[in-house]
Amino acid sequence: LRPQATCMLILDGKHLAGVLVDEIALEVQQRVEKGLKIPHLAAVLVGDNPASKSYVSNKIKSCARAGYVSTMVTPPADVSQAELMQIVLDLNNNPEIDGFIVQLPLPKHIDEQAITLAIDPKKDVDGFHPYNFGLMALGVETLLPATPFGIMLLLKRYGISTAGKTCVVIGRSNIVGTPISIMLGKKGDPGDCTVTLAHSRTPDLAKVIKRADIVIAAIGKPHFVTADMVKKGAIVIDVGINSIADATTKSGYRLVGDVDYAGLAHKVKAMTPVPGGVGPMTVAALMLNTMKAVKGREKK
Ligand code: GUN
Repeated sequence: LRPQATCMLILDGKHLAGVLVDEIALEVQQRVEKGLKIPHLAAVLVGDNPASKSYVSNKIKSCARAGYVSTMVTPPADVSQAELMQIVLDLNNNPEIDGFIVQLPLPKHIDEQAITLAIDPKKDVDGFHPYNFGLMALGVETLLPATPFGIMLLLKRYGISTAGKTCVVIGRSNIVGTPISIMLGKKGDPGDCTVTLAHSRTPDLAKVIKRADIVIAAIGKPHFVTADMVKKGAIVIDVGINSIADATTKSGYRLVGDVDYAGLAHKVKAMTPVPGGVGPMTVAALMLNTMKAVKGREKK
């Protein structure tokens, strides 16, 4: 043991996601007993991007564990905008489908924004539609973007207090950085943070990160956040999933986060691993959103 070793809490997203999905499975069982509809999630996977394939496969597996019905739609990479749009419209109009996702990124010739806009907001279990994003930003209950929602669930279930804390989010993407910065700044638990949204044009980024009680790294650069940048005792959430070459593994590569996990381990209070941190929580959040979508449709 190193003399300076502290006992870092590993925020085990894989385990917690399993707990959440098992809770959902119980609820599904109760729904079956009451004769209510079994939730049905569809996933659209365009082309054969290996990372996207693996994410969608995890989502389908999670449906099986939750007791949901799932459907995969797999158009080829050269699908036209009109064909993909028709797939979305068909899913919108299919009464069997409670929620669906279109796995991003889409091929370059596809207008991603037009596709996202076409998704029925009530079935938008990724929370990407501007209608849902807008309600989220206003603090009105709605389908929340899956990854930020997963991070909120992780903070909540681990009992990490966020009120009054300084939070630095690194990366301003529409699906992670921007929404999580809004959500953590809102009133609530988790919430009530003083949030800084940092990005590639932020001067003195290391200095900005060092102010943070909570660091959320969502930049997509392997091992970008190093030990010298973070405050001792910080809470670190690593959203990155980067594939780097590694001759010692069978596949020749391995997955690492945006954070130098080994370097930070004896400096921080708690941290999510990669893999097994935020990734599985995104899937659990998607399952919760799907249950919410079903219930929303039943209320109508
Ligand atoms: N690409 C990266 N993250 C996500 C996600 O949460 N949902 C979808 N649909 N695509 C993604």
